[in-house]
Amino acid sequence: MFAAALSGFVFNLLHILSLYTPPHDNIIRLELRHIHGTAPDTGRIVFADYRPEKWIDLTGTAGQSYSIKTRKIRTYRPQSIGAFNDARAWSMRFGQSVTLPWDEDDVLGPDIESREVLLALAKMSSNAYLQPNETGWYELGANWTSTYPFGWEPDADGFRGQVFATPDNQTVVLSIKGTSAAFIGGGGPTAKKDKINDNLLFSCCCAHVDWTWTTVCGCHRGGWKCDQDCLEESLIEDSLFYPIGVNLYNNLTYMYPESNIWVIGHSLGGSLASLVGTTFGAPVVAFEAPGERMAAERLHLPSPPSTQHVTHIYHTADPIAMGTCNGVLSSCSIGGYAMESKCHLGKSIVYDTVSNLSWSVDIRTHPIATVIEKLLSEPWQPSLEAGREVPEPRHEEDCVECYSWDFGNYT
Ligand SMILES: *[C@@H]1O[C@H](CO)[C@@H](O)[C@H](O)[C@H]1NC(C)=O
Ligand SMILES: *[C@@H]1O[C@H](CO)[C@@H](O)[C@H](O)[C@H]1NC(C)=O
Ligand SMILES: *[C@@H]1O[C@H](CO)[C@@H](O)[C@H](O)[C@H]1NC(C)=O
Ligand SMILES: *[C@@H]1O[C@H](CO)[C@@H](O)[C@H](O)[C@H]1NC(C)=O
Ligand SMILES: *[C@@H]1O[C@H](CO)[C@@H](O)[C@H](O)[C@H]1NC(C)=O
Repeated sequence: MFAAALSGFVFNLLHILSLYTPPHDNIIRLELRHIHGTAPDTGRIVFADYRPEKWIDLTGTAGQSYSIKTRKIRTYRPQSIGAFNDARAWSMRFGQSVTLPWDEDDVLGPDIESREVLLALAKMSSNAYLQPNETGWYELGANWTSTYPFGWEPDADGFRGQVFATPDNQTVVLSIKGTSAAFIGGGGPTAKKDKINDNLLFSCCCAHVDWTWTTVCGCHRGGWKCDQDCLEESLIEDSLFYPIGVNLYNNLTYMYPESNIWVIGHSLGGSLASLVGTTFGAPVVAFEAPGERMAAERLHLPSPPSTQHVTHIYHTADPIAMGTCNGVLSSCSIGGYAMESKCHLGKSIVYDTVSNLSWSVDIRTHPIATVIEKLLSEPWQPSLEAGREVPEPRHEEDCVECYSWDFGNYT
């Protein structure tokens, strides 16, 4: 009894002390440490350490560090990854969700209501600045270093990005950029299958854009009917989309076991960042990401009590983030992918560029460069008028996915 009272007192004391941390402590400085990518031949994750002499710095910004204002963010992480995987497997097999115990944790996250913070994170999510010059790529776990023939041209397929860290390694930021042209690098024997799986994650009923689709998936039952069981069965174990993110995160915790990790990303890299952050309870900021809520469901990810540590930033003229990227006629049916999902996890900061800047809906507004140069570089008038720096973060509560479709059992 006494012990309990004492520990309550100590807890309160600690709590009070934590309210008095000095204000200048909330700025951290992040610098570039590694570059990551997927090897074109094997699809495996490879890293290279950032050393200026090994990279051609196209804009002279690679050595720059980013100062970021932070604040405490509440996250939820599964008590064990084993339990998480078991719950997921159970849900896949029996269609029932299992209650999973989650650890609640207050960690240092980015202050997402500051425009400067969003601007810095957007720059970190962009990776157009570097080209390799005799770079040594390596795989973690395997024990070799080699010069990788690596496609680094802007349109190369796959996920790639950078790893930033504070000088003391306390905070590490994983940035993931997915190219618009493909989810997974390389091609190889499984490319077609992966594409089908990934279409299932981000389109309503297996994506109508691509002719390859009809030969493989038969869940469409005419009109707007889609067979739910069929959809579930066509998934998912084989999809490389989510495992790539999990591997990336695991690789990073191997390099930085004690660090607080954030995950940020652009486009499909943003969706992946969110799924990873939801799995591991890491703070996430995603730019112009296609809606990933449906993907999380279709992947049967156990859902934490809250995903408010995930923040999306997008604008209304971007058809990929808005989930209006569909139809054979649209410029969006890039490479046979349909992006029809539109509901995002966590909270969204949405810039209404269509109303406020009279932009037309156009896939050319999707790149991270647009976000950096046209959206975040200048103060956002509509927010300023409301006494804020950025639009208010909101849950997409009344978001309905694929509303014109009927999902059911149509055997
Ligand atoms: C790339 O590396 C080669 C040496 O392998 C060097 O001669 C060349 O100057 C480097 N290029 C740049 C732009 O750093
Ligand atoms: C990795 O390299 C170290 C020495 O550099 C060696 O001792 C170790 O056995 C190697 N591990 C594997 C898995 O090859
Ligand atoms: C931070 O991590 C790097 C590995 O990327 C290591 O070389 C360095 O010594 C670490 N620094 C501190 C202060 O722990
Ligand atoms: C890193 O990720 C790869 C997948 O690309 C995985 O095979 C490997 O085991 C991981 N290494 C570590 C140390 O987590
Ligand atoms: C911005 O658009 C919103 C509607 O989305 C409107 O309510 C607001 O008045 C607009 N503000 C400006 C400055 O145009």
